[in-house]
Amino acid sequence: QIVPVIMAGGSGSRLWPMSRALHPKQFLKLTSSNSMLQETVLRTLPFADNKNIVICNEDHRFLAAEQLREINQLGQIILEPVGRNTAPAIALAALELQKQNSEALMLVLAADHVIKDVAAFEESVKKATVAAQQGKMVTFGIVPTHAETGYGYIKRGEPQLSGYTVNQFVEKPDLATAQEYLNSGDYYWNSGMFLFKASDYLKELQKHRPDIYQACLQAIDHTTSDLDFIRVNEQEFLKCPSESIDYAVMEKTDNAVVIPLDAKWSDVGAWSALWDISDKDVNNNVMQGDVLTHNSNNSYFNAEHKMIAAVGVDNIVVIETKDAVLVAHKDKVQDVKAIVEQLKSQN
Ligand code: GDD
Ligand code: MG
Repeated sequence: QIVPVIMAGGSGSRLWPMSRALHPKQFLKLTSSNSMLQETVLRTLPFADNKNIVICNEDHRFLAAEQLREINQLGQIILEPVGRNTAPAIALAALELQKQNSEALMLVLAADHVIKDVAAFEESVKKATVAAQQGKMVTFGIVPTHAETGYGYIKRGEPQLSGYTVNQFVEKPDLATAQEYLNSGDYYWNSGMFLFKASDYLKELQKHRPDIYQACLQAIDHTTSDLDFIRVNEQEFLKCPSESIDYAVMEKTDNAVVIPLDAKWSDVGAWSALWDISDKDVNNNVMQGDVLTHNSNNSYFNAEHKMIAAVGVDNIVVIETKDAVLVAHKDKVQDVKAIVEQLKSQN
């Protein structure tokens, strides 16, 4: 049995000004007529045996519920009073799931990835079930194309259970190390998706981060539920340390298997990634909304309310929204989050 568990609690600050605190990117219709959350749920339908579990912030409960209802896929929504990163979020889902079905496999997915080849994704998930049923922590590995420092790196070991033993897992290495890994040809990128039994995740978490495990146990023991939502206990959850699954569990476990994934996967982290995956015109521009260009190339334009006209510019990103306009060099869009930080400190 596979239960999709969808992490939707991120802030998506590098996609400002479209992505906002009250409306982060996983709820945006950036790549299709569905939001990224909806796309994530829909692509699990061919093999999911149960309704999904979505974990998100309290502030986004109505957005999440409404979007899931819209595609007729409202399952359980677990609400976090504060974000404590992915290790606790997954623990909450695992503890909740364990109450209902201790043998079920959790397919942990980020709500903000694009996967263009859904059949290949399905194939890899199928392969992964054998290893997960045998108690492995399964990750999905992407063949790296550049020395990205925003990803985890997985060193491939011996062939095992339709994939490979994980010899090493390194979360977000520095540039020199990432380059070394890339050159070696022995590493995959961690896609940020996982498959394991709830009980196996909790066992690993308890072993490596008993503090996180305990805090989540307390928080879920004192939940309150109303119709659509499971609210974890705020007082208890506030005590939980903040850490990602990658640092808390995946770097430490010696029980992981990596299944290769070749499914046109993309972590739509920043505007340049959206340019990468979108269809371009003859000048290599991506134009959303009302946009006119002249002698301009390799750029991404998104006009929500007004017309954008660009003359003689290359490699830029222009995002126009009702109350803010972003103009950035396409190679520097990772730094958009610095603007969001400045905005936060002004408020
Ligand atoms: N519920 C909940 N609560 N969800 C969260 C929280 C939280 O506190 N923090 C993050 N998320 C969600 C995000 O919305 C996203 O869908 C997913 O968890 C992953 O979080 P990111 O913050 O986007 O992680 P990352 O991109 O820096 O790194 C992860 O993904 C990479 C691939 O995209 C890691 O797993 C890397 O190893 C991996 O390479
Ligand atoms: Mg991400």
